[in-house]
Amino acid sequence: MSKIQNKMSLEGRGEKELLELLIEEQDRFGYISGEFMAEIAGAMGLSISEVYGVTSFYSFLSIKPQGRHVIRICKSVPCYLKNSDMIIERVAKELGIKPGETTPDDRFSFELTNCIGACDQAPAIMINNDVHVDLTAAKISLILKSYE
Ligand code: FES
Repeated sequence: MSKIQNKMSLEGRGEKELLELLIEEQDRFGYISGEFMAEIAGAMGLSISEVYGVTSFYSFLSIKPQGRHVIRICKSVPCYLKNSDMIIERVAKELGIKPGETTPDDRFSFELTNCIGACDQAPAIMINNDVHVDLTAAKISLILKSYE
């Protein structure tokens, strides 16, 4: 079953409650472990694949441990047209990691995501809950330095 089919099959069967529990777990531990998915599936009468489907559908939920700061770079078309590739390359070069990886000191994780709602000021990135817009290579360095 696809991720979207999994998500659709949960509608009306406690998806809101499931999502709230997943967000709470993410906020507490920085990711959703396999053990937690199995536990929640059992408690809610769902299959583990249904819980996994919802967890992996939302880009702000992670199934692996994250760094202290999570960078999400928008890869949607408006940002792409405003040179988001340069931003992705710059972040990768500054941190020495590729999208989907975490720095060895656990300071940053780096993900690509869909629109973060700042299209009119593209290219944009999100670090934790902070949105940074109208980015340039020079701005990236300063922004990253501000997160210890
Ligand atoms: Fe990048 Fe919307 S397309 S923020």
